[in-house]
Amino acid sequence: MFLHKALRLPSTMNSQSKAIARANIALIKYWGKADSNINIPATGSISITLDALCSETVVSFEESLSADEFSLDGESRPEYVPRISRFLDILRERADIKTRASVISKNNFPLGAGLASSASGFAALAAAASAALKLEISPRELSIVARQGSGSAARSIFGGFVEMHADRSKDGEGSFAEPLLESSAWPLEVVIALTDRSEKAVGSRQGMNRSSATSPYYVAWLDASAKDLDRGRDAILNRDFQMLADVAQSSCLKMHSVAMTTQPVLMYWNGATVECIRAIQKLQQDGVPVFFTIDAGPQVKAVCESSAVQHVAGALQAVSGVKEVILSGLGAGVEWG
Ligand code: DP6
Repeated sequence: MFLHKALRLPSTMNSQSKAIARANIALIKYWGKADSNINIPATGSISITLDALCSETVVSFEESLSADEFSLDGESRPEYVPRISRFLDILRERADIKTRASVISKNNFPLGAGLASSASGFAALAAAASAALKLEISPRELSIVARQGSGSAARSIFGGFVEMHADRSKDGEGSFAEPLLESSAWPLEVVIALTDRSEKAVGSRQGMNRSSATSPYYVAWLDASAKDLDRGRDAILNRDFQMLADVAQSSCLKMHSVAMTTQPVLMYWNGATVECIRAIQKLQQDGVPVFFTIDAGPQVKAVCESSAVQHVAGALQAVSGVKEVILSGLGAGVEWG
């Protein structure tokens, strides 16, 4: 899996590679940083990688370029270039080159609406760029690199159930993700209820930095995280759906409590978000194995056992304000094409 298939262009200075990475959703959330410079999260997190939401990225290092270029879904997006350039610099430094790159990326889902586009985007970028540069890099190192683009991207390097470790060392080498359980061992399904397709006003990065500076609940959130991680990991390793449901919903609601008590207020939900939570609670009362989680946006992700997926999808589709439901199984880690 980690033998890079890089396609060399005729000139030895130019090289190109393509990678695909999938989005992930956190069941035990990351919200807050220990170090903003090298993007070390303040807490660990646990996620599932999704099969249905992916980013495909082609990176070409070209001697003829005087600056990095980025296009997303067929449109040039210069506003993202500074963040992408800083990220590529990490890999350029490792490869000891200065060559600029063209980055062409495609997502099969709406950008910035709380569907983890930065996770799949930076994981695909890290994988494609390191392959194009022919870097010898282990999965763990790739996860450490991806983290510096976006914390959640470190988790999208891997498939199935994934745990991201909070850092124990100052240089960030202890802050990486690793697989916890393969998807085939517990093939849960996810129903995503899209309640708004527009980009969120305040992204995760800005939001969590604001929360750590202003929410009176931020310290309590950090304190609760270690226990939630232990419970989440145990629930996954024992395939205990009820235990996972309880701890994942609790982690989600704690994260949003911190967001809502941030100044200025971070209210990521809309009315349909709340109605989806109520619909899922009703399903739970009826004995359906399902729970909700919500990231920094208004979409609701219902995680369920595979026997329940049609039932859950029907219930969420019927909620007023739900524009579309997307079904997804659990997906694989990064792949090179
Ligand atoms: C709510 O990974 O987007 O999705 O590291 O600043 O790029 P940066 O943040 P990002 O934050 C994700 C926040 C979250 C919860 C999670 O995925 O754990």
